[in-house]
Amino acid sequence: MAVIGGDGIGPEVTQIALDVVAAAGVSLDTTPYDLGADRYRRTGDVLSDSDVAELRRADAILLGAVGPPVGDASIPIGTLERGLLLRLRFELDLFANVRPFRAVPGSIGEGADFVVVRENTEGAYAGEGGLLRKGTRHEIATQGSVNTRMGVERCVRFGFDLARQRGTTLTLVHKSNVLTYSGDLWRRTFGDVAAEYPDIPTDYQHVDAACIYMVERPGGYGVIVTDNLFGDILTDLAGAVCGGIGFAASANLHPGQTSLFEPVHGAAHDIAGKGIANPLAAITSAAMMLEHLGEPDAAARIHKAVSDFVDHNSQSAPLSTAEVGKAIAERL
Ligand code: IPM
Ligand code: MN
Repeated sequence: MAVIGGDGIGPEVTQIALDVVAAAGVSLDTTPYDLGADRYRRTGDVLSDSDVAELRRADAILLGAVGPPVGDASIPIGTLERGLLLRLRFELDLFANVRPFRAVPGSIGEGADFVVVRENTEGAYAGEGGLLRKGTRHEIATQGSVNTRMGVERCVRFGFDLARQRGTTLTLVHKSNVLTYSGDLWRRTFGDVAAEYPDIPTDYQHVDAACIYMVERPGGYGVIVTDNLFGDILTDLAGAVCGGIGFAASANLHPGQTSLFEPVHGAAHDIAGKGIANPLAAITSAAMMLEHLGEPDAAARIHKAVSDFVDHNSQSAPLSTAEVGKAIAERL
């Protein structure tokens, strides 16, 4: 597997996650990749075609975080995000971004336990659009959202399969009252696929209303399926509601192919190097990677160690990154 520590706290939390995997008794053949802000500053390129070709040959990629410090003028905005993370999601066709949330005791979401499946290869992230007459008073910016029947359908179907596996409901989140074209495609596709899953109770919410329900009764969700941009925003909200973004893990999946696993949080340059970043999102992401690699028992043991630890330590004094890693390893 490939390891991309990346920027800020990325390398710290990734190392702890790998230590935990080792403590779970799984031995991985890892290759580190020096990608992120430093590599860009040094070489002027973010990710080469040969890097992509090599990464494609890995069974899985574990990524810490990418992104320059806020206000860093040496790297144009979006260069690393688009050139590294989004490029990998698109080129590897990682269509399902799976983000599980299990609320920390004492958080406002206490009791909630749900998963967001975010479409990951289309929507507003497709990069459709451009600037015309840039810099003039008559300039025009367009930014389209790409929604294909194939792309929506495979993501929706993934959501139904997950809801069946977890024995929960499936909620579609969109904004079909305003985005009438893409919303129509999503809702019709959802309805068509739902007919194949008569055992799964379904629901639809507009994304603005979902932001209220997410705060007021997050325990009502089972699995949510939504488009790329709504999923990006909703999962930051879900992270905050469920105890903090430091707990939120993700899997960027194309079942059966090279997939990428990463915490939902960013590089957090303000706390990098201080040894205080929460490694639990990276640890849970690594456990999701083990499921993908065919190590479900080790994955389940790590998930259990994390949830037991969280349930017993949420009221205690904050621990360091290394102490949390050690506590999880000891439970294993
Ligand atoms: C995420 C991140 C990324 C996204 C950024 C870093 C491009 O916010 O994984 O949620 O917007 O998808
Ligand atoms: Mn995000």
